[in-house]
Amino acid sequence: MATRNSGSFAIAPDGVDPNKVPKRVLYTGAEIPAIGLGTFGSDRFSGQQVAEAVLGAAAVGYRHFDCASVYGNEHLIGQSFREILKGGIKRQDLWITSKLWNDKHGQNDVIPSCEKSLKDLQLDYLDAYLVHWPFPNYHAPGCDVHSRSPDAKPYIHEDFMKTWRRMEELTERGLVRHIGTSNMTIPKLKMVLGDARIKPAVNEMELHPHFQQPELFGFVRASGMVPIGFCPIGSPTRPDRDKTETDTVDIQDPVIARIAGRLNVHPAVVCVKWAVQRGQVPIPFSIYRNEYLANLRAAASEPLTDAEMKEIAGIDKNCRLIKGQVFLWKDGQGWEDLWDPGGQVTPP
Ligand SMILES: NC(=O)c1ccc[n+]([C@@H]2O[C@H](COP(=O)([O-])OP(=O)(O)OC[C@H]3O[C@@H](n4cnc5c(N)ncnc54)[C@H](OP(=O)(O)O)[C@@H]3O)[C@@H](O)[C@H]2O)c1
Repeated sequence: MATRNSGSFAIAPDGVDPNKVPKRVLYTGAEIPAIGLGTFGSDRFSGQQVAEAVLGAAAVGYRHFDCASVYGNEHLIGQSFREILKGGIKRQDLWITSKLWNDKHGQNDVIPSCEKSLKDLQLDYLDAYLVHWPFPNYHAPGCDVHSRSPDAKPYIHEDFMKTWRRMEELTERGLVRHIGTSNMTIPKLKMVLGDARIKPAVNEMELHPHFQQPELFGFVRASGMVPIGFCPIGSPTRPDRDKTETDTVDIQDPVIARIAGRLNVHPAVVCVKWAVQRGQVPIPFSIYRNEYLANLRAAASEPLTDAEMKEIAGIDKNCRLIKGQVFLWKDGQGWEDLWDPGGQVTPP
């Protein structure tokens, strides 16, 4: 836990100095810590446990937190942020992201949704606010992957840009410093980049050794966005409903396991190290101090060798874990259709 001296929030003796955590620079010139703490508690961890992890993570040196309204825990995490700020950590030294959920893309919903996240998180502004998915589809939290919304819609660029205009307005009003996208594809991003007045600063995307998305990763960087990598460890604790028989397990990969053996760390740590070194910003989740501390240390310690980086580049299995089945909008489609496999936005 935090070491507190007369109200101050000092870094734990075994923690990592936040100044030693690498940073990435956004096109605005702002810096984002090269690793953050994920806060999606899955079906397994309570909001209270996640909020305690946020507090504990700040005490070991984390300054970047990845939140979202749909995780249902922002009101609890807000209490942790209040305590962190009260303890003397400056707001400008934190990086806090939140996300607009899919049933709030309507023009009159975007700004109130952001304001609700700000209120819950007890903040005046967000460092980044992302459109969580490009599909404006409601589905009940925790619903089965086979459930379909009768109102499900495909990606309609004109509609997305109406939502994006409101996102732009949020920056103009000073409520958010950067706006970004998540779960996008190259064709969708090309259209958004062509029409945005304020272009996305970050794109949050699934990235782990068995799902490296080299083309999208390269496109995002070449377009001046920073890729934020979710499920960096291969999300071993994701909800059972998000697991399929063909999914592979990054932390059991022999290459990852061998490197972990050399470093005497858990294979999860190798995944985090690889991610930071490759240039994405991983946001690993854990409520356990030893795990989130090991992940932060991974980002600030000796790098993997060039040969190890090359070996990991060779174990990509194109294994997408978060497939998004609930967003499918008509019968006879496969989840691949959500990801524009033909290199163009899948037609309605
Ligand atoms: N934008 C999006 O659509 C989107 C989608 C998914 C996730 N996200 C974000 O990305 C974050 C991370 O993704 P995720 O939570 O699905 O998966 P993840 O970070 O890949 O995996 C988390 C799990 O890995 C294990 N772990 C973490 N650090 C470890 C360590 N040092 N040693 C051993 N095991 C370790 C823990 O499992 P054990 O408890 O078994 O140890 C933990 O529950 C989320 O929390 C969320 O903020 C965003």
